[in-house]
Amino acid sequence: MQMMKESKTTSTPIPVSKKGSVPSVPQLEVFKNQNAILRNPLPFHHENFEKLGHTFMVKLGAGYKIIFTRDSETIKYILQKNHKNYQKSPLQTKDLGKYIGQGLLTSNGEHWRKHRRMVQPAFHKKKLVGLLDAMWSAVQDEIERIDASTVQNVLPLMGDVAFQVVARALFSAEDIRERMQKLQRITVLNQKMLIREMRRPYLKWWFQLDGSIKRHLELSKDAQNILNEIVEERLASGEEKDDLLDMLLQAKYEDGTAMPRKQLLDELLILFTAGHETTANALSFTLYLLAKHPEMQEEVYQETQKADFENGDQMQNLSLLIFTQQCIEEAMRLYPPVYVIDRVSIKDDIVDERKIKKRTTWLLSMYELHRSAHWDNPDEFRPERFAADVKKNHSDYYYPFGAGPRMCVGNNFAMYEMIMAVGGIVKKFKLTTDMDEVVLDPLVSLRPKEVVLRFSER
Ligand code: HEM
Repeated sequence: MQMMKESKTTSTPIPVSKKGSVPSVPQLEVFKNQNAILRNPLPFHHENFEKLGHTFMVKLGAGYKIIFTRDSETIKYILQKNHKNYQKSPLQTKDLGKYIGQGLLTSNGEHWRKHRRMVQPAFHKKKLVGLLDAMWSAVQDEIERIDASTVQNVLPLMGDVAFQVVARALFSAEDIRERMQKLQRITVLNQKMLIREMRRPYLKWWFQLDGSIKRHLELSKDAQNILNEIVEERLASGEEKDDLLDMLLQAKYEDGTAMPRKQLLDELLILFTAGHETTANALSFTLYLLAKHPEMQEEVYQETQKADFENGDQMQNLSLLIFTQQCIEEAMRLYPPVYVIDRVSIKDDIVDERKIKKRTTWLLSMYELHRSAHWDNPDEFRPERFAADVKKNHSDYYYPFGAGPRMCVGNNFAMYEMIMAVGGIVKKFKLTTDMDEVVLDPLVSLRPKEVVLRFSER
């Protein structure tokens, strides 16, 4: 299939490469810089995009290569137009999958399709309306816990918000806080282990030998046991709660059967994993940007005066926080939590007029696309880019939740909870910071090293 001309997403002229081949980074250069790249790959990505064009290749020996792209047409082609030829890489299906099981996030092919059909309806906007009160009560409980007497790193606080919101939406009951805290500890510990494995891939044999992988797999078992206990209690109670767990328990395959228990537990754990760190990062970056831009924070504050989450119709409240939503969208443009999306080609393909072999790994850089020359002053925080009348101009250059059939199933859920959290926090506290800049820590997701803020009660 022929497709696309050179995109106009960057101001840098693209060097003429031999027709049909993707410009590649010399292997020695990758080898020399591998530690720095594993610590923070963003400068490596940026330098090579600037030097070699929107699409470049890294050869890693034994025929294994990765193609990096920030070209908007190529990204659309892989995620949407020819998505059938692209699946998730073993980094997600195997490395992450061994800790969180084979659910939506970590599976491919028919297994994925079957379960996407079952899980997606639970996240439909109409269904989410019924979860908004539970979502707000979780957000409010976490806001109440914020200690205004000291400066604080908000990343762990936002981690608590994101985790508790998923927990409340899934299980509605409030008497499971202790078990949820244990589950959260396990999720965080396993995420850290995965990061260790990714940062030091050459030490995998050692992690096997010193028992750390085994220990973390046992933690995953503990997580499954906690979730299983909660499912058992729900079934034994015979109660209908109308929460996400009920929806998943009632969901049926095409042949009318329900999800096997092990699959249900995998999907539950995956919702925590997928919905926890991404949201915590987006919230932390948004609060940081609002602390750095007091005039915009004031605009958010004024807007929150119109909303009454304690009593009002939650959908109505959310629809009033228009500028708040724009600030969150702009924060995810500058700092997309999923900053690269990976895919592996199944068959040979022609992409951007270049022949690409099957089993090629692609890394689609959302971070670079979101800061490409399509955007005026791309490094500036300008929430008005997402005003209703201009928002659609950016749709080909903005994918915080991915695109195509594997687009985030929790995107509306995440937006609702983030609007509530940012609105609720700014309504109660004035945020300030002494930080000059935020230091990025990109690996599984793009997160800030820390975001230290002062919360002054209004
Ligand atoms: C700001 C918050 C979030 C961001 C930025 C985000 C981003 C993404 C992105 C980019 C993908 C697609 C990855 C790919 O194509 O390889 C994805 C997938 C997914 N997300 Fe989210 N997400 C967020 C919150 C959530 C929440 C709250 C949930 C659920 C409670 C969730 C559940 C999932 C699941 C299950 C998938 C896999 C979908 C599939 O492959 O069918 N996410 N997310």
